[in-house]
Parts: sequence; structure tokens; C-alpha cells
Amino acid sequence: MSDMMSGVAKIPVIERAKIGALIDAGTYQREYRRSIEQPEQFWAEKAADLLEWETPWKSVRNCSLTTGHIRWFEGGRLNVSVNCLDRHIPLQGDKPAIIWEGNEPGETRTYTYQESLEAVCKISHVLKSRGVKRGDRVAIYMPMIPELAFSMLACARIGAIHTVVFAGFSAESLSDRINDCQCVAVITANEGLRGAKTIPLKQTVDEALLNCLSVTTVMVARRTPTEVSMTAGRDLWLAEAMHDSPADGGAEVMEAEDPLFILYTSGSTGKPKGVLHTTGGYLLHATMTHRDVFDIRPDDIYFCAADCGWVTGHSYIVYGPLSNGATTVMFESIPTYPDAGRYWDVIDRHKVSIFYTAPTAIRAVAKEGDHLVDSYDLSSLRILGSVGEPINEDAWAWYYNRIGKGRCPIVDTWWQTETGGIMITPLPGVTDLKPGSATLPYFGVSPVIVDETGAELKGNGVKGRLCLTQAWPGMMRTVWGDHKRFIDTYLTTFPGKYFTGDACIRDQDGYYWITGRVDDVLNCSGHRLGTAEIESSIVHSQVVAEAAVVGFPHDVKGTGIYAFCILRSADTSENQLAKAADAVRASVRKHIGAFAVPDQIHFVPGLPKTRSGKIMRRILRKMVEGEFGSLGDVSTLADPSVVDVIAKEVRSRLSS
Ligand code: WT7
Repeated sequence: MSDMMSGVAKIPVIERAKIGALIDAGTYQREYRRSIEQPEQFWAEKAADLLEWETPWKSVRNCSLTTGHIRWFEGGRLNVSVNCLDRHIPLQGDKPAIIWEGNEPGETRTYTYQESLEAVCKISHVLKSRGVKRGDRVAIYMPMIPELAFSMLACARIGAIHTVVFAGFSAESLSDRINDCQCVAVITANEGLRGAKTIPLKQTVDEALLNCLSVTTVMVARRTPTEVSMTAGRDLWLAEAMHDSPADGGAEVMEAEDPLFILYTSGSTGKPKGVLHTTGGYLLHATMTHRDVFDIRPDDIYFCAADCGWVTGHSYIVYGPLSNGATTVMFESIPTYPDAGRYWDVIDRHKVSIFYTAPTAIRAVAKEGDHLVDSYDLSSLRILGSVGEPINEDAWAWYYNRIGKGRCPIVDTWWQTETGGIMITPLPGVTDLKPGSATLPYFGVSPVIVDETGAELKGNGVKGRLCLTQAWPGMMRTVWGDHKRFIDTYLTTFPGKYFTGDACIRDQDGYYWITGRVDDVLNCSGHRLGTAEIESSIVHSQVVAEAAVVGFPHDVKGTGIYAFCILRSADTSENQLAKAADAVRASVRKHIGAFAVPDQIHFVPGLPKTRSGKIMRRILRKMVEGEFGSLGDVSTLADPSVVDVIAKEVRSRLSS
């Protein structure tokens, strides 16, 4: 990231991408300016154009990034599931809404818009028959099967607030989330399938619910033939309950600012935050960005390889694509099953035209070799997307040349769980690309770069922290149950601005390069984790007295997890250390989930601390980044000698 990226040349817009594009360069510039200078007029027009409202809004926006009062389209009423399904029936009831590709290659099912609507209505009625009503919270803990998307939409239909919990989370994480927002129901499956693994979802739900008193209903989709224990009066099989339910009706008319979903995400403290998104503004942002960024056309087969347990799955597998009446591919498996050619197999068989994935997945399959690509026909592809972390030059070039054959623009989209939708991104027919840069702001997005004191760094060729100065429709509204935390986390660091937590460069051409988090948040294989959460789950193992977790550069994961741990026991025999490491891994698996297990568990005699006892994570971070020469002044540490001891071992671990 040296020299502020000024050396990277632009790759001009591919001619092919300009033909028939929804937005051209002139329109982007004109509309962008209008979105910033006349936001009310701009957004009113878009809201009327892109969504179907039961009642028009009275005020377009009423937002303050100082008080944290964020309201869009107040007085307006609409239903998200009606926008995603019902409104498309007259013209395209028979168009595939969801193409599901199951765990085994070729195991596929297609649901038209009409069939999807029927399934969603049925689930809505089941929820209602169990007493779930408007405003109630429902946890969804499911594999990537169509019933997951239908359950989200069924909640939206009756005005219940869903909170999807990624199926890789442990029972404890699940119960924490259920308790935080007091869910009344859980929708799950008997088991999940991911590659060669079977995941005992219902069993995990049962375990979680031992600690959750608010849940009175568990709905279970049958994914495998395996029987699971069912608690009478509480649990029901989803398919059986749907069987006798009406296949239409049931849509509640919601206020624009009624909550749509809560999605928990990690921050710098040990406790995940329930990010709240509401109805009108979120749906507009998801719909419009999906249309513009992917340049959606009627015949597109659109495939986003994310999981609905994360925000990308919400906005760009379910809500955005369906609201646009597009065909969305839902993928249950993993990129390396049965081999690392799986994505290309799916793209070939379903004639996918738009593919959206994360750099970590690209790196994971690229390293397995090009022969896994070459046997597939990828000529249906038109646009490629990237999300979740900065995409390194090698991965970009491989994606662009090997997968896109130089014919497809890559849209490198920067956004966050909190932003609801894409914020900084190229547009296919508009933006010259620079590999590794998310390029330019989307409509209504006003990025600024500030220094540590909050002073705005004007002009091009600057590096600092990324903030946004204007509220946008898809912005989170609060942290569930803790509005103060919302304000403290996002609006207080740089008063009057939304602080993203990311470092950023604006280069000589005004292009944005997001270079990574400046807080204690790690982005490992596209999973967002707080170091504090991992540390506390390690200490819970009982074998560790104190832990410090930092991220280190990892070839595939982007960021790997490096845990420095002080052992409780004085016995440091090899056997004892191996046992302790196992206990640490088991504890993280239990308290968070397998995806948070550290790549490196390094037992240290002590941690670099200031005399007042604060752990100097900066020193640990420098070491794992291989920058042993710039550890800074260590003489003020309580025990400077510890640094050399740790550094020696870090060197040998990271070189092996
Ligand atoms: C963090 C948000 C956005 C949905 C998936 C992740 C990083 C995201 C990019 C990108 C560089 C990116 C940022 C951000 N990030 N997209 N295109 N280039 N960094 O959502 O889990 O809320 O994580 O992901 O650091 O703050 P999330």
C-alpha cells in the first residue's frame, strides 16, 4: 500500500460491459451529484420507482448523525415480501426465483416466483398459528436450503423480526443471540450438510434452548432422513405444518421504519451487537444497489456464493435479487466440495451470468490449480463481484483472467453489516477498474477520510480513517436494546460522522482503497470476529490465565487468528502444551464455533504489558506481520525481556 497506490494503472471499462448497461458514465456523474446535493428529491424518486408502497411516505428523511436518530420514508407503508414476491406474479409468476444447488453436484431444485410465494405464505401461516405476531423476534438457524430464504420472507410477511444465526455458530452463541433479543420461535433443520460434514443443527438448538425461556416454538425442516428428538408442544416439522396451511394472503402492512431484521456482528468488545435494519430504507438500498452494481437484466442468472447467516446473504441472495424479480442461485455446499472446481461447475450447469464471492474463496480455489477451471464452460459469465475484504492483486488477476477471461468487469464492493448494502463500488458500464480498489462511492454515499484527531483530509492522495458524512437509506438504525452503544460505537469517535472502523486511502485519481480494520475486528475467511470474543472464549478453557489475540496475514483466509496464551499450569512439557492447545481449541469451538478456532496457539511466559497492565497488542501485531524491526520502544514495558522470547518463537512459527 505504498506511495498511496498512485502507480496502479486504470483498466478501462470493457466495451462489452457498456452495451445495454443500465447506467453510463454521464448518468453516474449526474445522478451522483444529485444524490448528494438534492438527496430528498433523489431518494423520493428512487423509492417510488423501485418499490411498491401501500401508502406513500410523508417525509423522505429525518436523520442526524449527531443524535443517532435515523428515519427514512416515515409514514410510508409497505411489505417486504410483497415487494419480493407478490408484485412479480402477474408478469413473471413462472420465472425461477430461486435455483437451489444442494450439497451434491447436480442436486438441484428450482422454485418459480409463484411457488416461492406459496411456500412463504404457508410458513407465515404456520408462524401465525403458533402465535408469532408483528414485532416478535424469530431466530433462524438453518443450512442453505430454500426454506431458509422462505422463512426470512415469511417473517417479513407477518412483520416478525428475524435474526439469522450462521449455522456454524455453537449452542452458546445461538442462545446468547436468542436471549439478547428474546426470540419466541426458532426455525431450524434436523441436520445440515456442508461438503463431507453433517451438522447436527436440531441437537444444537435443543442444547441452546436449555438456556432460553422465551422460545415456545421450534420449526424443523427435514434436510436429511435422520430422526431427531422432538419436544412435544414445542417442536413441529415444518413440511407437515405447511401442508395444511393456506398458500396465499397473510401480508401485514408495515411502517417504513418497522424493524425487518436483526443481525449480530462482532465489534471490539466481547459481546456481539444486534445490528437493526428496518423496512423501507433497507429494501430500497438492497434493491437499487443490486440492480445497479450488477447491472441486472431480465435473463440474468445471478449467483452470490455467500451464506444467509451473514449480511451479504440477506441483501444479495434474498432481498435485493427477489425485489428486482431476478433469478438467484442459492448454494448449499462449500467451494472445495467435491473439489475446488465446484463454483465453475455450478456456473456451467446453471449458465450463471453474474457471480459474486469473497477473495478468500477465490484464493482457496485458485491455489488448487487451473485444471479445475479449464474443463468448464464459463462463457455465460458477464459480471464478477468481490466482497468482504480487500482483494489482493494475484487473486484479482486470476479472477479477471482465468474466470472472466478478460471479458467481465470485477465489481469490488465495499460495505458492512451496518451499512445494509453496497457503499463504494465500481459500476460495470461506468467505472475504470484498479485491481484492489473499491473505486468510487455509490449514489448517496459521502465518504471522507479523517486523521486520528478527526480532521478531514481533503483532496487526493490521502490516507486515514474512513467516515461517512450523510445518512443513507440502508443504514442500521440502532443496536438492538442498546441505542447508546450504537451512538458510542459509530457516531462518537468522530462526532457528527459515521465511523466505519476501516482505514482507507484516496489515491491521486480519487479512488478509494480500503486497507483493513483499525479496531479489534478480524476478518477471517470472510467471517467477522472480535479479538475480545476469542480471547474470552480461550480463557474459559480454564487452562489459560490470559490471552491476547491478533490477526496475521494468511494466504487463503486473508487474516489468520494468532493467539498468545499464558498457561495456568507451571508444567510446560510438550505433552502438557499439546493438551492445553486442544483444550483451547475445544473451548473456542464451544463458546463461538469452529470457524473461530485460532490457527496459531502460542503459549508464552508473559505478554508485553505497560506498567499499568495494558497489553500492547500493537507489538504482537507487528511481530505476526513479520515486522520485527519496527516494534517500537519496548523499554517502557513492565517486562521488556518477554518481547525477545516471544519474537523468537513467532519467527520460527511463521516461517514454517
Ligand atoms: C468489513 C465489514 C460487506 C459484507 C460482508 C462483510 C471489510 C468488506 C470490502 C471490500 C475491502 C472490505 C471491511 C468492512 N470489507 N468489503 N470490498 N474491500 N474491505 O461484512 O462482516 O460486516 O465486515 O469487511 O473491513 O468494515 P462485515
